[in-house]
Amino acid sequence: MDLLSAQTLAVMHELEQQSAKDRTDGTPFFDRLRSVTPEVGQFLQILALAANAQTIVECGASGGYSTLWLASAARAIGGRVITFEIAPGKVERALHSFAEAGHAEIIELRQEDALVGLSRFSGSADLVFIDIEKDLYEGLLEPAVRALRLGGLLVADNLISSEAKLAGFREIALSHPELIALVVPIGLGELVAVKSTASLS
Ligand SMILES: C[S@@+](CC[C@H](N)C(=O)[O-])C[C@H]1O[C@@H](n2cnc3c(N)ncnc32)[C@H](O)[C@@H]1O
Repeated sequence: MDLLSAQTLAVMHELEQQSAKDRTDGTPFFDRLRSVTPEVGQFLQILALAANAQTIVECGASGGYSTLWLASAARAIGGRVITFEIAPGKVERALHSFAEAGHAEIIELRQEDALVGLSRFSGSADLVFIDIEKDLYEGLLEPAVRALRLGGLLVADNLISSEAKLAGFREIALSHPELIALVVPIGLGELVAVKSTASLS
């Protein structure tokens, strides 16, 4: 089964090129797409499939690159993606990406602070992905744990690239009583955790 249609691949390719260009052409930091790497995108897709993730919640859509990887898995298993983004220009770009890729009907983009939006889920999310400004990670951890069902997955980007800034988040996540977690050294470093009643320690 082809999870990525030619349409979706073309949009992903455009976003990859734009994200790479943003990093080198002087685009101000907050205007850059800052997409995950393709390897991390595929990792998200695999995790979503493995978790049979019907409800996927993303914090930080930007232009929609990681969202499209998640949506490709959601489509294959009859699920959906709810993604939060606050920057108007990014919202516009992401909506365009979703429509062009043919995934608009299974992605709900909410132009809302992810912290507020995530707090509305209660044990109903199968996978939560955090890829947002680093000073927001710690505050998102408890809402993310509450949003997940038992056995649901939490994934967070940039644990290695922003090691110092995310040290507090990493420590709390790795020792959280409801999570079994580790940091996987792919892309910019992914925290992967499963919500569990048992803990490793
Ligand atoms: C690193 S980028 C996300 C990249 C995206 N996941 C991808 O791989 O294509 C982080 C995004 O989070 C958005 N953001 C920042 N603070 C936010 C908040 N409080 N709620 C929702 N989105 C926010 C930013 O505007 C930015 O587009």
